Amino acid sequence: MTPLVAAHAPATPRLVRSLIGKKVIMAVTGVILLLFVIAHLLGNLKVFQGAEHFNAYAAGLRTLGAPFFPRGLLLWVARIVLVGAVCAHIWAAIAVTRASWSARPVGYHGLEAVETTYAARTMRWGGVIIAVYLIYHLLDFTFGRVNPSFVPGDVYHNVIASFRVWPVSAAYVVAMVVVGLHVYHGLWSAFQTLGLNRPPTFRWRRGVAGTVAGLIAVGYISIPVAVLAGILR
Ligand code: HEM
Repeated sequence: MTPLVAAHAPATPRLVRSLIGKKVIMAVTGVILLLFVIAHLLGNLKVFQGAEHFNAYAAGLRTLGAPFFPRGLLLWVARIVLVGAVCAHIWAAIAVTRASWSARPVGYHGLEAVETTYAARTMRWGGVIIAVYLIYHLLDFTFGRVNPSFVPGDVYHNVIASFRVWPVSAAYVVAMVVVGLHVYHGLWSAFQTLGLNRPPTFRWRRGVAGTVAGLIAVGYISIPVAVLAGILR
């Protein structure tokens, strides 16, 4: 009996270690993406300062780091980091999902409402919805393919033209709610993965995750709502 136990014993810590490794990749890339979402929101809120400020901000992104760096270089570096983080985040999410499915291939028939299962399902569907949203978003504001009247360089005009179409605004609002929920669950579990779940921390973990997620969702939603209300025109 002893050799059997000895042969199996090292396998479990290795599996756990690799699973935790993937969760750490998910947490770290998630934090990078969260920082982008916050920076992007702060930039987008400049839309309330008017067309001139907003377009100057968008143009400024291209000349970031000037005169030390050539035009567009730092923007491309940020894009490459962002694409890398998105790919690693999705890869780790698929790997963790597969690991949890193979750990329980039969499924839980009577335990559908368990809180962690619900949160995990929300995260998976949320991730898929955000990925689909991002493709539409890039076609809308970066490539202009689905924008009703895309004008290259006139970012303010492009945002107003898109959000004037109420089904587009409604779809953005739904996507922003999903982004908020994803950030909430994601931040909460990242605190856990990164070891911030000790007694003084877990009291404020939910509060911090909820506040950050709520501010992000409300901040983004304010833009299509302001366009539909005629505040931004
Ligand atoms: C009301 C909500 C939003 C508005 C008005 C908005 C606006 C914009 C605009 C105008 C651009 C094009 C910028 C340019 O070409 O100069 C852009 C690009 C982008 N947005 Fe958003 N955005 C919103 C929400 C989001 C969210 C929630 C995410 C992420 C989950 C996101 C991710 C991106 C990405 C990845 C790009 C491409 C950046 C680049 O390559 O330059 N956006 N957005």
